[in-house]
Amino acid sequence: MDHSEISPDASPTGYRVLIASSEAHPLVKTGGLGDVASSLPMALRDLGHDARLVLPAYPSARKQVRELKHLMDLRIAGAVGGVHLLGGLLPDRDLPVYLVDAPAYFCREGNPYTDVSGRDWGDNPERFLLFSRVVAHLAMGLPPLEWRPHILHCNDWQTGLAPALLRDQDERPATVFTIHNLAYQGLFDRATFDRLHLPASLWAVAGLEFHQRMSFIKGGIVFSDRVNTVSPRYADEVRTQRFGCGLDGLLRQLGGRFRGILNGIDYRIWNPADDPALPQGYDSDHVHLKGENKRALQQRFGLPRNEHAFVLGHVGRLVEQKGVDLIIAILPRLVAVGQVQLVMQGAGDRALEQALQDAAAQHPDRVSVFVGYDEPRAHLIEAGCDAFLMPSRFEPCGLNQMYSLRYGSVPIVHSTGGLADTVVDASDAALATGTATGFLFNDPNPDGLWYAVEHALWMHRERPEQWRQLVLAGMRQDLSWQASARRYLAFYAEAIASRERLPEAASA
Ligand code: ADP
Ligand code: GLC
Repeated sequence: MDHSEISPDASPTGYRVLIASSEAHPLVKTGGLGDVASSLPMALRDLGHDARLVLPAYPSARKQVRELKHLMDLRIAGAVGGVHLLGGLLPDRDLPVYLVDAPAYFCREGNPYTDVSGRDWGDNPERFLLFSRVVAHLAMGLPPLEWRPHILHCNDWQTGLAPALLRDQDERPATVFTIHNLAYQGLFDRATFDRLHLPASLWAVAGLEFHQRMSFIKGGIVFSDRVNTVSPRYADEVRTQRFGCGLDGLLRQLGGRFRGILNGIDYRIWNPADDPALPQGYDSDHVHLKGENKRALQQRFGLPRNEHAFVLGHVGRLVEQKGVDLIIAILPRLVAVGQVQLVMQGAGDRALEQALQDAAAQHPDRVSVFVGYDEPRAHLIEAGCDAFLMPSRFEPCGLNQMYSLRYGSVPIVHSTGGLADTVVDASDAALATGTATGFLFNDPNPDGLWYAVEHALWMHRERPEQWRQLVLAGMRQDLSWQASARRYLAFYAEAIASRERLPEAASA
């Protein structure tokens, strides 16, 4: 097939895109990857392309997929027990999804990566090698399916071996690899590499080897036709030693094959006008209705109902990256200010969980904490708070600050990665032009964060009209997937053009 025939604009049927991910909302989600893995393919489908998703058949995924069918049995060298391919649709939308059903690997309680106590599954290398093997088969077009993608789009280290396994296949599709977070690389020792029986030639610096260890993420970076990360600013940052996690040199070498493409947000799920988790819907023309959600939030979190309180919110994984310790460090200063409340929700690091619970016990009228994962509550926090705190030390993109913008909750963020690309600081100049949407700070330490919080507090109290302007500018910003999905399509076109031979088109 001549690739002009499958250029995104020229072809009515467009690209066939297989998106491989270790999580996807609402089947299974631990963070932003889950949101992106289901909303990007939907946005591609809305633009007329045949995007499909492939995921391991975790119990929660099997349970939720609609019209689930057994498609075929697979013979995968070295696999323990049976491996089957199942197919169906996402529960709430017409997105085709393949599930890799290998009970010995994926049928267990816990999350995709860890057991119930939070420890990484000891056989993660085997689990995600198996997943990558099936993805690679699917990418080559399994005959009974009569569907063969033009593009294989892999995400994060769990899928990094798929492009590596396809490297010598003349008929392979073009491959794109997205780095959602460079800090998670899938590193294992040499003995694990030997145990996996991967081709010996992959143990090379121009392969999977990374300082005498095996790196899954390098498989994706080294062997894909195009590589991206999820914001332009983070793409610049990871090419420096400070943020590069040891891979900055490799990423610099990629030159124009590597770039940043900002995530969008899914307006079907994150829309304050039509959000089933909210007691009161609102939009930028009816922003006064937002206050009802503040009262509901205070009630749900056991805080005094007070419409004049300045409510700060946070939702996120409790890990070093997110800078929650900075929020804890400014607490004494925060509670010394009258009429301020803080609502926090997250799970992860046990010490951070404990520190937050201690803070809530010490200031029950001012601080409330929910330790755990709860989607409807996350929506209520986004809608009910006045300002949303995101002091991340680094942030590849970040979705929560975009949800807050959309929900009129002014983000207070560290100026890094996708946070810097999506929030415009309330400087005098930006306020004058009406482009300001939030507060940014440069130094990821308690004083840096406090500086921004004080500025926000002051504006909320002393300049309510300016505050309102921030809220409305954020709510009216276009954060939808449309533009980003088009950027991915252009990126796919480049990946296809860079292939010497294009995959034979199977009947779609
Ligand atoms: P990351 O992917 O690094 O965790 P993002 O901001 O990109 O950060 O995405 C986080 C996603 O996970 C958001 O959809 C957020 O609402 C959700 N999330 C994180 N922690 C929780 C929680 N405790 N309860 C509900 N949702 C959560
Ligand atoms: C990662 C990043 C986050 C990003 C998400 C989706 O988990 O930490 O910044 O928004 O992936 O791309």
